[in-house]
Amino acid sequence: MAYSSSTLAVPETLAVPRHIAIVMDGNGRWATRRKLPRVAGHARGVEAVRSTVEACMRRGVEYLTLFAFSSENWRRPGEEVSFLMKLFISALEREIDKLDGNGIRLRVIGALEAFDPRIRELVQEAEARTAGNTRLTLTIAANYGGRWDILQAARRMALEAGTQGLLIEGEPNEEMLARHLSMAYAPEPDLFVRTGGEQRISNFLLWQLAYTELYFTDTYWPDFDAAALDEAIASYQLRERRFGRTSAQTKKNSGKTR
Ligand code: IPE
Ligand code: IPE
Ligand code: MG
Repeated sequence: MAYSSSTLAVPETLAVPRHIAIVMDGNGRWATRRKLPRVAGHARGVEAVRSTVEACMRRGVEYLTLFAFSSENWRRPGEEVSFLMKLFISALEREIDKLDGNGIRLRVIGALEAFDPRIRELVQEAEARTAGNTRLTLTIAANYGGRWDILQAARRMALEAGTQGLLIEGEPNEEMLARHLSMAYAPEPDLFVRTGGEQRISNFLLWQLAYTELYFTDTYWPDFDAAALDEAIASYQLRERRFGRTSAQTKKNSGKTR
C-alpha cells in the first residue's frame, strides 16, 4: 500500500521527486501561434508525453501523472472533444507495447463511464497487461476532476461504512477517505508542473496537492521536453519542504538523499 499522507506524518523528501503530476496545457495556443488548427497542438502534445515519460524513467521518477482531459473539457466544441478521444485511442493502441516493454505500469483515472466502450475496453486491457510492471507508474487523468474524486471517495466510504456497521468515534477519518481516492496506489505528488503559463490547478488533484511543490512554466506543452523537465526538477530541489515545521526543524530532520 502506497498510502502516505503529508498531513498525518512528515514524508521523506528525496532529491528526485518520487511523483510528478503535470497539467499539460497550451496545446491550442502552440498551434494557433503557428497558424495551425488547435487539434494540431494536441497531436504534437503526444510527442511531449513520450519524451517526458522517457525522461522520467531516466531520472528515476517512480510516478508520473498527466492531466489529459478534465471533467470541464466537455464544454469545448464537439469536434475538438471527439478529436481528443480519437487521439487517446490511437496513442493507447500505438504506445502500449512500448510502455509494457519499458516496464511501465499504466493506470487511467477519472469518470470513465462517460467514455466510449472502445476506450474503456482498451484502458482495461492496457491496465491489466501492465499491472505487474514496476519501473514507472504512468497515470493518465481522463474525464478527471479533483472534486469528482473526493466525492466518489466519500460515497464509497459511506457505502462501506453502511455495510460494515457503525462507525467508531473519530471516524470517518482522513485515511479512510484517502483509501478510496482514485490514486490511492500512489504517494502524494512531490512536484506539480503546469505548462502554458496559467497559474491555476483547474480541478486537478485537489486532495493530493496539499503539500506538493508547485511549478509553473510559460512553455507550451508541445515544446516540453527532457530539458524542461530538468528545469522543473532543479527548481524543486531548491525548495525547503517544511510541512508545517520551522526551517530549523526541517534542516535538522532533513534526510535528503540522492
Ligand atoms: C491542454 O491544452 C490540453 C487539453 C486541455 C486537452 P489546451 O487545449 O487547453 O491548450 P490552450 O490552453 O487552449 O492553449
Ligand atoms: C486543464 O487545462 C486540463 C488539462 C490540461 C487536461 P484547461 O486548458 O482545460 O484549463 P483552464 O480551462 O485554462 O483552466
Ligand atoms: Mg488550456
